Amino acid sequence: MKYFALLFCLIFSMQLFAQQSVVVQITEDSNSPQISKQIYGHFAEHLGRCIYEGLYVGEENKIIPNTDGVRNDIIEALKELNIPNLRWPGGCFADTYHWKDGVGPKEDRPTIVNRWWGGTTEDNSFGTHNFLNLCEELGAEPYLSANVGSGTVQELIDWVQYTNHDGISPMADWRRENGREKPWKVKYWGVGNETWGCGGNMTAEYYADIYRQYATFMPGWSGDTEVYRIASGASEDDYHWTETLMKNVPHHLMEAVALHDYAVIDWSNKGPSVNFDDEVYFKSMEQALKMEEYVTKHIEIMDKYDPEGKVDLFVDEWGGWYDAEPEVKNGVLYQQNTIRDVMIAGTVLNTFNNHARRVKMANLAQMVNVLQAVILTDEEKMIKTPTYHVMHMYKVHQDARLLPSKIDKNITFRGLPALSVSASKDETGKVHISLVNIDPENEMPVELDISGLEIKSINGQVLTSDKLQDYNSFDDPEKVTPKEFKGAKLKKGKISLTVPAHSLIVLQGK
Ligand code: AHR
Repeated sequence: MKYFALLFCLIFSMQLFAQQSVVVQITEDSNSPQISKQIYGHFAEHLGRCIYEGLYVGEENKIIPNTDGVRNDIIEALKELNIPNLRWPGGCFADTYHWKDGVGPKEDRPTIVNRWWGGTTEDNSFGTHNFLNLCEELGAEPYLSANVGSGTVQELIDWVQYTNHDGISPMADWRRENGREKPWKVKYWGVGNETWGCGGNMTAEYYADIYRQYATFMPGWSGDTEVYRIASGASEDDYHWTETLMKNVPHHLMEAVALHDYAVIDWSNKGPSVNFDDEVYFKSMEQALKMEEYVTKHIEIMDKYDPEGKVDLFVDEWGGWYDAEPEVKNGVLYQQNTIRDVMIAGTVLNTFNNHARRVKMANLAQMVNVLQAVILTDEEKMIKTPTYHVMHMYKVHQDARLLPSKIDKNITFRGLPALSVSASKDETGKVHISLVNIDPENEMPVELDISGLEIKSINGQVLTSDKLQDYNSFDDPEKVTPKEFKGAKLKKGKISLTVPAHSLIVLQGK
């Protein structure tokens, strides 16, 4: 009898101390927006080894298999991600770039010194044709970031005419002379980049006026593609910038306003990409989670001036930014990619999904060998980073309908919300739920209330590793890869699961 009483007490106290599940309500709302696939976009700048020695190895390269100079292994890997759009040629580089120097016979092209990124001399061999043909090959929308800082209105409208005009015109004729008959029909055009900084150190008021001038002349000629003009946007919490653009630029001249936000712990001491400690991890996550606040507040301002939601928000640069790896030749902004990056990508993408009403595009910085890259190369070797796998797991949300989710009593990690969630339903009726537990030590029991959704079976994938610092190297390229997740149990309109410490899970319900 005494023994049973003791056992009873033990079980009772175990239950009392057992961690309570975090409850997440996931509902269906016929008014909820579609998650624009463009949120899963990328960015490729002339910087370090992103273009030259990364993506582009040259048409004459006989060692690395390529299509018109672009590595075949990268093309294949990017196709698997369904990359919806690609932004080019910068970044800060864009406001120094003169597109006419990058078309026509390669031997006649002038060089350009990359003044922002290492002072390297480039031969302009990768230009407009290479980029737009690559986008066609990938099935991705090109996003051209135009030079306002050191360019002219004429230079920009000539670029629009060169790429988009089907009839007879000086630029369309020149394009044909250079070997391309049909226009590429480029829709997305950035009017300058970071015009508050490397794009010209302008004030918001001054840029708003300049923007109006550029935007007036950009729309195409009769019958051409409608251009979608993106105003160079704020950095982080510069709400004055967004307010000024929304107030001073007539909305028929501006289809989107941009925002840039990097997860950087300290601009003068960014810390290493791999050998970071617990404190640095915490600070990185603190920064990454600020995206939620920034996006919310910029949208509030946009709603005030544009309640009908005609102008979109594009987060056209985001990602983790650390100290570059010192041993890599021309490794400007070259950094490794760990489970910390998985946590950053998963939480930030959940934020974008959940704000799909206004966030219509985002571009991860950057695609190859720079910042939070999805691909790293070392001569003929190529690896997919942990962030690549996040983009692959999350592609199920592209163009799916958002299912609003509400987390009840989130567990905290040093004051930060430990669980992040977003969910969607695709056109075939499949439901996808992505969950990220940023707590480095503790697993988290979670109960998903899906009682309003018709789900009969559940499966999933998990991305994690023993240590936060684990990464894929050229010697061990598969160390961090998604694994099947069998821990989700479906019962009476509820899914229960335990999300491991520092892990990301995507569930599929049918
Ligand atoms: O992505 C690297 C740089 O970060 C870009 O060139 C610039 O736009 C931003 O400051």
